[in-house]
Amino acid sequence: MLNSLQNQKELILKHWNYISSSLIFILGFCLISFHLNNHNQNEKLFKYFNNTNDWSNLFHYSYNYNVSSSTPTLCIITRIYGPQISYFPIFALAFLHTGLDNIRIYVVNTDRRTDIRQLKQTINFLNKFVSRRDYITLLELGVPPLKNEYGYVMTDRALSYLYNQTNNLSSSCQYIVVTNGDNFYSQIFGKRILPHMKDGKDIIAWDFVSHHSKPQYREIIFQTKHAAPQIIDDGTGKCTPVALKAGSADLGAIAYRLEFLKERNLYFKRSDGSYSSNTDGYFIEQAALRTPASVILKQTLFFHQ
Ligand SMILES: *[C@@H]1O[C@H](CO)[C@@H](O)[C@H](O)[C@H]1NC(C)=O
Ligand SMILES: *[C@@H]1O[C@H](CO)[C@@H](O)[C@H](O)[C@H]1NC(C)=O
Ligand SMILES: *[C@@H]1O[C@H](CO)[C@@H](O)[C@H](O)[C@H]1NC(C)=O
Ligand SMILES: *[C@@H]1O[C@H](CO)[C@@H](O)[C@H](O)[C@H]1NC(C)=O
Repeated sequence: MLNSLQNQKELILKHWNYISSSLIFILGFCLISFHLNNHNQNEKLFKYFNNTNDWSNLFHYSYNYNVSSSTPTLCIITRIYGPQISYFPIFALAFLHTGLDNIRIYVVNTDRRTDIRQLKQTINFLNKFVSRRDYITLLELGVPPLKNEYGYVMTDRALSYLYNQTNNLSSSCQYIVVTNGDNFYSQIFGKRILPHMKDGKDIIAWDFVSHHSKPQYREIIFQTKHAAPQIIDDGTGKCTPVALKAGSADLGAIAYRLEFLKERNLYFKRSDGSYSSNTDGYFIEQAALRTPASVILKQTLFFHQ
């Protein structure tokens, strides 16, 4: 008994550094969540976070980026509006763990009611947290229109911005993903798509889990009333095998070579000037029609939330 207690004590001492840094890390995250949930009450706390310069030391969490020219840069056009801002840190920090060094996030606000100050503070904090000034950039592309068209008017402005930016060698993106600020990408995302970016493919698509109901993937369950465990399948949260057509693809489940999109002058707006909730499917079909250089990955790399 005594022996085992001593062993435990030794074990704890041995791992104390690890435990204490983990505790600091967890505490840090609790504080961040607390801040994000209580935006107004925690203005002071936020100022403290905002004015502390080197988070990487405190968290023993250092991101050393040697942006290497042999690895293509992937730019994530991130559409966001008010309620998604509190989830955005999870989205943004998860990309750091996907195994791609050359990732840049471009945020575009799609709703005029969004608290831009909160968005800027969140971005500012995250850039400090990862010790990279250019990790996340807020694109200020004018006020979103009253009829926001599912965010696609602003998405098209962001595309136009990136097309124009390709003329500027110092900051161009070789590949882009267009997605929403509350989505989630797998830790193997980078490893899986990198070879195909290096290969110069125009379109890279991957399977995803959708929150939308997919009745066609629902299991047929015959169960008696008292069966254990009870089985529930409402058709949501189903894995969708991706295809380059409307209904079988999702906005965030595809990466495009930026020059390819630019050369074809592709935008989300239809030729009659309209947008709809299926605009992402339309865009994917338009792009797929224009190149045979596409690849479909049969791995689930993305949660559409
Ligand atoms: C946060 O820091 C940036 C510069 O590091 C500064 O411009 C900004 O005003 C600060 N925001 C707040 C709320 O203190
Ligand atoms: C970045 O480059 C420096 C100098 O070449 C090197 O010392 C460092 O280990 C590199 N960091 C990473 C993460 O590759
Ligand atoms: C990109 O350039 C075109 C042509 O100069 C211009 O009309 C357009 O407004 C620019 N887009 C953005 C987002 O600045
Ligand atoms: C090119 O990008 C750099 C860095 O982002 C910026 O300072 C410069 O103004 C840009 N030049 C043009 C012509 O857009």
